Amino acid sequence: MSNPEQVKHAIETRPTKPFTDQKPGTSGLRKPTKTFIENQYFENFIQAYFDDLNERNKDKQATLVVGGDGRHFVREGTRIIIQMAAANNVKKLFVARDGLMSTPSVSCVIRKRNTDGGIVLTASHNPGGIDNDFGVKFNISNGGSDFFDRNTKFNGKFCLGPAPEAVTNSVYDKTRQLTNIRLCPTLVNIDLLTLGKHTYEIEGRSTPFEIEIIDSVDDYVQLMKSIFDFDKIHNLLVGDKGKFPIMINALSGVMGPYVLRIFHEELKAKDAVTVKNCQNLEDFGGHHPDPNLTYAHELVEDMKHGDFEFGAAFDGDGDRNMILGKSGFFVTPCDSLAVLAANLDCIPYFKKHGIHGYARSMPTSGAVDRVAAKNQKSLYEVPTGWKFFGNLMDSKLISICGEESFGTGSDHIREKDGMWAVLSWLSVLANVDRSVEKILHAHWTTFGRNFFTRYDYEEIDGPGPFAMLKRLEGMCMANELLNKTFVTPYGNKEYTVTLMDDFHYTDPVDGSYTEKQGIRIVFTDGSRLVFRLSGTGARGATVRLYADSYENDPSTYTKDAQEMLRPLVSLALEIAQLKEFTGRDKPTVIT
Ligand code: G6P
Ligand code: ZN
Repeated sequence: MSNPEQVKHAIETRPTKPFTDQKPGTSGLRKPTKTFIENQYFENFIQAYFDDLNERNKDKQATLVVGGDGRHFVREGTRIIIQMAAANNVKKLFVARDGLMSTPSVSCVIRKRNTDGGIVLTASHNPGGIDNDFGVKFNISNGGSDFFDRNTKFNGKFCLGPAPEAVTNSVYDKTRQLTNIRLCPTLVNIDLLTLGKHTYEIEGRSTPFEIEIIDSVDDYVQLMKSIFDFDKIHNLLVGDKGKFPIMINALSGVMGPYVLRIFHEELKAKDAVTVKNCQNLEDFGGHHPDPNLTYAHELVEDMKHGDFEFGAAFDGDGDRNMILGKSGFFVTPCDSLAVLAANLDCIPYFKKHGIHGYARSMPTSGAVDRVAAKNQKSLYEVPTGWKFFGNLMDSKLISICGEESFGTGSDHIREKDGMWAVLSWLSVLANVDRSVEKILHAHWTTFGRNFFTRYDYEEIDGPGPFAMLKRLEGMCMANELLNKTFVTPYGNKEYTVTLMDDFHYTDPVDGSYTEKQGIRIVFTDGSRLVFRLSGTGARGATVRLYADSYENDPSTYTKDAQEMLRPLVSLALEIAQLKEFTGRDKPTVIT
């Protein structure tokens, strides 16, 4: 399809004022939606990205992918990016139909179509809408995210991430010096709903600017079909052993179209798969699109009735997942990773490509470590943030990885992948046992059980959280708690400290060094406490407290994790003086 317009579009250079606060966090730049919309805040950030890209690419014209999670301003933001890309020497943009493309799908499209990177318009699991959050994140050519980490150094310099080609100039530096933005304001009325290719003549450019509107669901479905045995999953859901009813809740995020296409059309399992919130809404229907026991409460309630064997929910941009069994049996993300790691032979992709090592983020429980030990595979422990897995995957050191923050994935792409996790679980259910709970019990019987919980204290105003972390850092430096024995305020249990440190990491592939990644207290029995500040919030500070303890007495396996961990958590609160510093006597969310 060629563009009927013959006009040449002029490039306009528009003056702007730099902002000092466009420093990306753990996963891109996230701010209130209104902040992005006002004062060319969004345009500035995108211009800084293009300036950096052109400098790094030495003016070689780039091909990029653009997509988002459908929240408020995604479609308008997509149109602005089109106008700016045309004016900033981009050769071609693959644009998601209607602006909708899940984060894993962006990674898939970048890799499949060999682009130089992509722009994802998402604030992930943060609520959307005019009064909530918006976000932008940039992915590099391996399909993984590229973002500023104030604590990562490469060759002694702070950098955008471990990928060496991204090191030299940070987008953040550019945002602070920006004086102009460039755009083609006459590039309007582009039909984002119709698939096809368009080319535009741009004044001052020797080559035309190309756009291709693509259906990202197509590319993604093809990838999933190359990984999983769809016939086997079809057979589990509606095959000869009778219906296996499941419930999938997309929380009104970007995953609706993927869910409908995969479960109803490709797997032909409409009879067994009940779906909810599969219509993408700009404010996610008021949901907080984070798949955990608190925010995906609707799924938990639906599962409690016992009518479904399996339940899953995704976050706004589709990279996170929550897995539940019959009657709402909760699979912690840490256990989910361990169970999948132990059962990868149920998935054709791993039979074909082999299994390299496994990895987890530092706060994630050690459940997968035990699978690695048994299977004699390497286990890597990285800081929080999916980008740290990228180098390990590119170098074939790991095949599967996960985080306690409801992220699971493999080296098929470079983002975590909610749908991949669900299809992996269904593959295990099809091959091993038709009960999630039984699979977990069998796993614990083999490996022992890591009890894990995370307490979140969200959106705290004022300096308290920072002061709390500072005090803990001081205690690490002074080795203050080493060999000290504590009696827990709740339960009178004794714990002796064997290590307390501020976690740091040297990437084994490129040698980049990342420090200050969370305070870790390890006890002589292997139990661990971790404290860190969230890097994804858009308001105030969020403190996260993680507790992990290991049991190999089978009589404990069926016990409630909260009850089991209460003594350890009570000790954590005492050591950190959390209430004194934050003013909070209970967490906002427990997972
Ligand atoms: C995003 C990243 C994850 C990371 C999480 C941490 O979701 O993609 O890789 O685990 O942020 O969030 P936090 O709020 O704990 O910094
Ligand atoms: Zn997400």
